[in-house]
Amino acid sequence: MALALETIRERVGQRQQWYHTLELAPGVVTPGWFDLRTVAPQVLPASLAGKRCLDVGTFDGFWAFEMERRGAAEVVAVDIVDPRAWDWPVTSGDALVQILEDRKQGGAGFDIAAEAFGSTARYRECSVYDLDPVDVGRFDFIFMGSLLLHLRDPIRALERLRGVCEANGTVCTMDAIDPTFTRLFPRRALATFDGDGRPWWWLPNIAAYERMVRAAGLEPLGPATPVRLPPGAGHPIVKPSRAVLTNREGRRLLAATRKGDPQAWIQSRPAAAT
Ligand SMILES: C[S@@+](CC[C@H](N)C(=O)[O-])C[C@H]1O[C@@H](n2cnc3c(N)ncnc32)[C@H](O)[C@@H]1O
Repeated sequence: MALALETIRERVGQRQQWYHTLELAPGVVTPGWFDLRTVAPQVLPASLAGKRCLDVGTFDGFWAFEMERRGAAEVVAVDIVDPRAWDWPVTSGDALVQILEDRKQGGAGFDIAAEAFGSTARYRECSVYDLDPVDVGRFDFIFMGSLLLHLRDPIRALERLRGVCEANGTVCTMDAIDPTFTRLFPRRALATFDGDGRPWWWLPNIAAYERMVRAAGLEPLGPATPVRLPPGAGHPIVKPSRAVLTNREGRRLLAATRKGDPQAWIQSRPAAAT
């Protein structure tokens, strides 16, 4: 039975933070960190009718529900619920882990949204590194968003996606890129490295991003397409100030608030064995 509007509203209000902006019922919209509702039609095929789909690093489940909305026969959504199990540099402190744990609240956002939507998407706790066709099977369409950045070994993760993709299936990844290096070096594969105190690792330019996909045995179906992720109602608003403008991270956050987070998406297919 569909949930009453008031119950949905109450459950949305119980969570302090949402990662995704989801319209769970008419007029009941979660205050997400990002609002990807205009991005999904650019990135996902209009129809996924009959396809077996996988969403990796699902968080509140926006992409899983979008795939379901496009007619997927089955949607599996995987994530690591406990942020302590993410890839952290040893320089990280407990405070940030706690902030992320509070934001995640044991994956509660996905459960609330799935019930409100009457979704049949299946949530499984599994690291991208552990995706195994023996365990989860193979998929016709795989989406992984905003996760490569947070992985110590992004190539291994992409290899795992290839391993659970059908031979004629599609892997679609959308991830953070370095816009400056993309502009200055359109052909040379370069990345900036973070790895300091937070689970942020490599930020490639588009040339490096495409190279990462190929290095994992995936054949791009077209060039990587730049996209900006619009901030949602729960995104911090960063205003220009001396402190913000004089540090790199401040300038990045300011640009993300104004123009959206710079990312690129690319569709690929398992490369034929050589
Ligand atoms: C920045 S959020 C991206 C959410 C969503 N995929 C999107 O594109 O909007 C990163 C997500 O990846 C999950 N995550 C982190 N490490 C992971 C891993 N090794 N395997 C699977 N998911 C992971 C986090 O729990 C979080 O839900």
